[in-house]
Amino acid sequence: MKRLGLIQITSAAPEYAEAIQDAIEANGGDAKIVSAPQHPGLCLFTEGLVERAPAERDYLALQAALQSYGDVHAVMLNRAAADALHDIGGLSGLCRSIRIERSDKQVFALSFHDTHSIHEDARNIVRALSLPRDDYTLTQRGVCRDVPSEEVSPPPTSASLPGTPVWLVSGGARGVTADCTIELARRTGGSFILLGRSDVTSWPSWLEPETDLKALRGALARNKSHPDVPPTPKEIDRYARKLLAGAEITSTLNAIEAVGARARYVQVDIGNQVGLRAEIDRLVTEEGTITGLIHGAGVLSDGLVDQLDLNSFETVFAPKVTGLETILSCLDLQALTHIGLFSSASAVFGNQGQANYAAANTWLNNVAVQLAATMPATQVKAFCWGPWHGGMVDDALARMFAERGIGLITRPEGARIFADQLLNAPHDQVRFVVGDEWGDV
Ligand SMILES: NC(=O)c1ccc[n+]([C@@H]2O[C@H](COP(=O)([O-])OP(=O)(O)OC[C@H]3O[C@@H](n4cnc5c(N)ncnc54)[C@H](OP(=O)(O)O)[C@@H]3O)[C@@H](O)[C@H]2O)c1
Repeated sequence: MKRLGLIQITSAAPEYAEAIQDAIEANGGDAKIVSAPQHPGLCLFTEGLVERAPAERDYLALQAALQSYGDVHAVMLNRAAADALHDIGGLSGLCRSIRIERSDKQVFALSFHDTHSIHEDARNIVRALSLPRDDYTLTQRGVCRDVPSEEVSPPPTSASLPGTPVWLVSGGARGVTADCTIELARRTGGSFILLGRSDVTSWPSWLEPETDLKALRGALARNKSHPDVPPTPKEIDRYARKLLAGAEITSTLNAIEAVGARARYVQVDIGNQVGLRAEIDRLVTEEGTITGLIHGAGVLSDGLVDQLDLNSFETVFAPKVTGLETILSCLDLQALTHIGLFSSASAVFGNQGQANYAAANTWLNNVAVQLAATMPATQVKAFCWGPWHGGMVDDALARMFAERGIGLITRPEGARIFADQLLNAPHDQVRFVVGDEWGDV
């Protein structure tokens, strides 16, 4: 312990800081509690343990990491498992993203499973401090490098579901979650309730069908004398997007019905806890107990780490984190046979411009592991997708991935992998990286 020199501990979470200082001193080391690191060497940051909402906590951790000097070896503490999902962090994805963007920073995550005793947590943390610089997770079984990836392999058998499933799918009417949902409907039948914010604006009978935004804007502009068409280019753009969203939702509903399942769409913002709770209560009354949950809703708010503000974290965390917390709190968890979470390879490898998104998806991965451990009768899978050919990957992002030599997942292939692994992969395979790897994890 002495060879680590004077260890600094930030005071953001004072109870943890004091317990860690005691544990270091009990091991013969020297420790000092500071508001921010004052000299080079090892510094344990407790910002990831403060009692705040996950978005705010991870944002505070980012700010603290950015303010530390390059010769500080920063270890960002956070929980990988805890009774309240709210207390779980996403700092390994965040730290990897910081290291990609800022090679001058020595920032690593040390994530631990909450033991219900701050002093025991502190002792476990201190035992891990002599390890080589890397991201680690401390579990009840010991310490492991944080490499959350299972091989995607063809599952050997095809399990059948008991009874007729009722699936709740956030984000399932649009984007790549829609492809996965249609494939799932083909395999399992049953009922599908799809949640999304967009309304279903019906396609005007006078307008030719069109799926391309630019072409649709052009068609609307050419018909600007029509009373349906708004006057300004900005409003035309908004109207075109609404039409495309409505058409995509309708097409998903039709595709699910065409493979023999039932489908309905519910317009709700899943980041709005009150509205979502009311909707889910109503849906359970109308459709019966939910037996399967797919959580695909997500948005981006990209920016380099120096530019990301709290608002960008809250934007990304609202559907991914708050949305899932609220959904799980409304459902009868015992009745769930399957939970499929749409995460991202950014959580595993980090990604330039996506530290907030990597953190939110790391939270999702941590939650998946915890749910799988506490719900042995439920298939829980987190899909750490690489980029797809579609959804939130627009042409500019697709070009960026191509320049980096990262292939795109095709929509039929992604949907097949999703249904295969969700329905049939062994219970203990929880987190999958799907697509090309781009990091050195
Ligand atoms: N596409 C990829 O390459 C890729 C890669 C890695 C991970 N993922 C993950 O896969 C999931 C789907 O991504 P995508 O590419 O299909 O994105 P997308 O095309 O932008 O679709 C996102 C979906 O989420 C819904 N959504 C977003 N915020 C919501 C909210 N607050 N409440 C309700 N619904 C909401 C959207 O519907 P409305 O807009 O109508 O609300 C839409 O259905 C995301 O979680 C994403 O992080 C995608």
